Amino acid sequence: DQAYDMVVVSNRLPVDYREAEDGSTEWRSSPGGLVTALEPIMRAADGAWVGWAGVADREFDPFERDGISIIPVPLSAAEIEDYYEGFSNDTLWPLYHDVIAPPSFHREWWEAYVRVNRRFAEAAARAAAEGAVVWVQDYQLQLVPKMLRESRPDLVIGFFNHIPFPAYGIYSQLPWRSQVIQGLLGADVIGFQRAADAGNFTRAVRRLHGYTTRGSVIEVPDEDGGVRHVVARHFPISIDAAGFEELARRPEVQERARQIREELGNPRTIMLGVDRLDYTKGIRHRLKAFGELLRDGRISVEDATLVQVASPSRERVETYRQLRDEIELTVGRLNGDHSTLGHQAIAYLHHGYPREEMVALYLAADVMLVTALRDGMNLVAKEYVACRFDGDGVLVLSEFTGASDELRQAVLVNPHDIEGLKDAMVEAVAMPKKERTRRMRALRKRVRDNDVANWSATFLKALTGSGAVAAGIP
Ligand code: G6P
Repeated sequence: DQAYDMVVVSNRLPVDYREAEDGSTEWRSSPGGLVTALEPIMRAADGAWVGWAGVADREFDPFERDGISIIPVPLSAAEIEDYYEGFSNDTLWPLYHDVIAPPSFHREWWEAYVRVNRRFAEAAARAAAEGAVVWVQDYQLQLVPKMLRESRPDLVIGFFNHIPFPAYGIYSQLPWRSQVIQGLLGADVIGFQRAADAGNFTRAVRRLHGYTTRGSVIEVPDEDGGVRHVVARHFPISIDAAGFEELARRPEVQERARQIREELGNPRTIMLGVDRLDYTKGIRHRLKAFGELLRDGRISVEDATLVQVASPSRERVETYRQLRDEIELTVGRLNGDHSTLGHQAIAYLHHGYPREEMVALYLAADVMLVTALRDGMNLVAKEYVACRFDGDGVLVLSEFTGASDELRQAVLVNPHDIEGLKDAMVEAVAMPKKERTRRMRALRKRVRDNDVANWSATFLKALTGSGAVAAGIP
């Protein structure tokens, strides 16, 4: 077995194993922001990536892809149900997103979560060289830091939580709240998206365990009566801004953007939503606001078309099935009520698309709608901004996204306030060019200045730099 100085551990590998109906197989890039964020770093670090291949009951040998060593961890069909669909996506996901949907608590799911976390920790321990840096990702693997520290005290362990960390009143509903906190405290540095998330975490540590915290440094008692210093602070994640801009500047992508406008019947304004089909994304609120604007005649289908890309996600979890039904019913009704033969109210696309097509859509969109009810960061908002090298386009952004901490020049909205959202949408459609470019210039500077290379460098510096305590100083 080869040993690596840098190991990333995440539930999903950067590639998914796919089996087509004709029996052919391939490894395809996986969905989600995490992969987009980490792929460039891993390629540069020559590291190993430990994770799940996205299919049940299959064992794969480690292999290399695009300069990254891929170490697959197998999951059985029952583990996918209990650990992934169950505890990760039907307990933790709704709980950490402020119980927008009710979380389910099942003891068998928790047991599977512990078991699977142990398997990931063991795979990481096998891959890591003496003194290596192991960087554990996201809510599916919160117990891995402690498990790793127990078996491999030589390692430098980082953890990054890509989703929100809720306030204590919500977090404390979790029957296994202490075990999860202890799992995370096995890390040297625990990263969050927003300062508020880090604050919620340190408060939970104080309330549940009574440990002393000084700013972002937590004093965790160790077995010999001393303390170990753990840093918990925010490191807002970002995107490969230059990579997106480079794609947007390609003539064939710009040509595709023009073609999209034409295919939509050249509406005056194209509004765009791009989300995983998830109840945290506020798709229903967006449709409601858009539908009422059409009903009240404040916008017409000749004026504006809404393109909604909703990429399939977690389709075996009941809440997601219900959401899909609701959204598709609403889209059907709105189109039935408002579309004409020449102009569609909503172009609804239940697909994932290659990055080129997404970039062409961003270029074609006059107004980008990000109306999440809760979102750790929301990289779509940053992607839209990075692609608008023409300096034009309006971003409507929910204040409940991590991105809104940085992207202050967006049109900020509270998506629960449907009247406010409607006004913001009308404001975005009617915004004079001068104001659009003024705002976009500021947004673009922000996204360029904190890109994903910056994010990972800052995190890794805090992790390996001058010791955890020094790194805790913001
Ligand atoms: C979010 C999570 C990721 C997850 C992604 C896609 O971005 O933070 O951990 O990978 O959604 O969801 P999925 O369940 O398909 O991995």
